[in-house]
Amino acid sequence: MAKRQDQGLARGLTNYGDRDFSLYLRRSFAKAMGYSLDTLSKPIVGIADSSSGYNNCHRNFPELIEAVKRGVLATGGLPMTFPTVSLAEPMLHPTSMMFRNLMSIDTEEMIRAQPMDAVVLVGGCDKTVPAQIMGATSAGRPAIQLLGGPMISAQHEGERLGACTDCRRFWARYRAGELGDDEIEGVESRLATTAGTCPVMGTASTMACIAEALGIALPGTAAIPAVHADRLRAAEETGRRAVELATQGVTPDQIVTEKSIENALRVLLAIGGSTNGIIHLAAIAGRIGVEVSLERLNEISDETPVLVNLKPAGEHYMEDFYAAGGLGAVLRELRDMLHLETMTVAGETLGARLARDPGYVDSEIIRPTADPIDPVGGLVALFGSLAPDGAILKRAAADEALFEAEGRAVVFSSPADLAERIDDPDLDVAPEDFLVLQNAGPKSGYGMPECGYLPIPGKLARAGVKDMVRISDARMSGTAFGTIVLHVTPEAADGGPLGLVRSGDAIRLSVKNRRIDLDVAEGELERRRAEATPIAAEPRGYAKLYQDHVLQADQGCDFDFLRSV
Ligand code: FES
Repeated sequence: MAKRQDQGLARGLTNYGDRDFSLYLRRSFAKAMGYSLDTLSKPIVGIADSSSGYNNCHRNFPELIEAVKRGVLATGGLPMTFPTVSLAEPMLHPTSMMFRNLMSIDTEEMIRAQPMDAVVLVGGCDKTVPAQIMGATSAGRPAIQLLGGPMISAQHEGERLGACTDCRRFWARYRAGELGDDEIEGVESRLATTAGTCPVMGTASTMACIAEALGIALPGTAAIPAVHADRLRAAEETGRRAVELATQGVTPDQIVTEKSIENALRVLLAIGGSTNGIIHLAAIAGRIGVEVSLERLNEISDETPVLVNLKPAGEHYMEDFYAAGGLGAVLRELRDMLHLETMTVAGETLGARLARDPGYVDSEIIRPTADPIDPVGGLVALFGSLAPDGAILKRAAADEALFEAEGRAVVFSSPADLAERIDDPDLDVAPEDFLVLQNAGPKSGYGMPECGYLPIPGKLARAGVKDMVRISDARMSGTAFGTIVLHVTPEAADGGPLGLVRSGDAIRLSVKNRRIDLDVAEGELERRRAEATPIAAEPRGYAKLYQDHVLQADQGCDFDFLRSV
C-alpha cells in the first residue's frame, strides 16, 4: 500500500466520491499488470516515451527506455512508461513547429494526471525536447531530460555526410545541374543511416546542449551519439537520478531559472546554435515567468565567442564534438561568463560540476576563448522599420560581404507563391536583390515553416550565385546557412510591415547597427495597409486553437494561456 496519500500510486486519485475506494480500485487494476503490492508501494517514475513508427530519430528509444528502467529499479523505484505525441521533423504537415505546443500540453497534462513522483523525458528530434521541457516545467513534478543522441555520419564516395547540412548542400548542387538523378539518389540513401538526431549543430543538437546547459539533462550527456554504449549508461544513470529527484522533491523550477536560462543563451551563442533555439528558449523561459529580451541577446552575443567548429557553420559532426570533450569543454571555456551557482539534476551546482571536470579538449573542434572561431556570438537580433519587434540573423552561417547592403525587394507573398515562382526563368531578379517571403509566420496558416532559407532562384543558382540576402517571418532549419533574416516580428499575417513590402521597394540591412529598414514613406504604407486582405480564419480543431492563441517569435510562439508571464 502506498506509504503516503499524496505519493506514488495514491497521487491524484480518480474521483469516485470515495478516496479509499478510488485507491483500492486503482491498485486492483494496476495488479492486473502483475505488480505485487510491495512493488506498487515504491516511488513511481513515469517515462515519457516520444517514439513512434514515424520517428526515425527516436528508433533507439526502446533500448534507451530499458536502460532507464534498469536505473529506476536498481534505485528502488517503479518505472512506468507512457506514450506522448511524437514529432518527427520531416513527417509532419504543415510543420512540426505547429505541434510543439500540442506535445507540450500532452506532456504537461499526462505528468499531472497520472500517478508519478518524477518523470524521465525521453526526446531528441527538434521540437520534442523543448516541448518536453516546457510541459514538465509547467507540470511542476521532478523531471529529468534524457536525450536520444545524434546519428553517426555516413560516407558517400569518400566524403562524410550527415543530415541535414549536407542534404541542402547536395540539393543545391543538384538544382544547379552539377549532379544527376543517380547521384542525388545515392546521396539520399546515405544522409541518415543510424538511429539518432541530425549529427550537425542543427536544432536537435542545439536543444540537447541547451538542456544540458539548463541543468535538466545530466552533465556530459548532450553529445553522446545515439548508438554509443555511453548513451545507454547515461540512460541508466538518468533512471537512477529520477528516483533520487523524486525522494528529494527537486522540481524543475529549482533547475530552470532566470540564471540557468541566461547560461543556456550564452551556450547557444558559443556553439553557433540554431536560430530555432532562441524561439524554444523564449518559450521555456515564458513558462517560469521570464522574458528573453532580444536586446539582452545582442549584449550576450557581443561578449560571447563562437567556440565550436561544427557544421553547418564549421566542419565537423556531433560525434567529433563528443570525442573532443563535448559540452563540458565548452562550459569550461565559458566558466567566467556563467552563473556557476545554478543547480543541475545531478544534485550539484554547475560550478561543482566544472570543478570535477576531467578537462580533456580537442581544441581543433572546441576552441579556447583566447583563439575562438569568431570573437562574437553566432546570432544577432535586428530591429528597424521592417521588424519593429525584432528579427534574427545567424551571422555565424552568413556571408559577411552582405552584412552592410541595400537591395531591391523581390517579394513572394507566401510559401506557395515561392514554390511556384522561384525557378521561373522570367523572374525579375538579380544577385544583389533581397528576396522577401511574406505570410510564413506563426499565424499564417503555414505553421511557421523552415522555409526562411529561400532557395537561390534557379537561373541565378545555375549562374553560380551561392548566397543572397533573404528576409522572412519564417524559421530556418538549424542545419541551413546563408545571409538569412528570420522571425521578422510582427509577422505579415499579424499586420507587420513585412506584409506591406512590394517588389521594387528598397530595404537596408546593417548588421553593424543591428538594423533592417524598409525605405517606403509612411503614407504609402498606410495606403497598402488599408488594401491588405486578412488571412482566412481556421474553422476548427487544433489549427483554430493554434491560430487564436499562438504568440509571436519573440515570445517563443507559445500559446498565450500557457505562459506564466
Ligand atoms: Fe530529427 Fe533532424 S530530423 S533531428
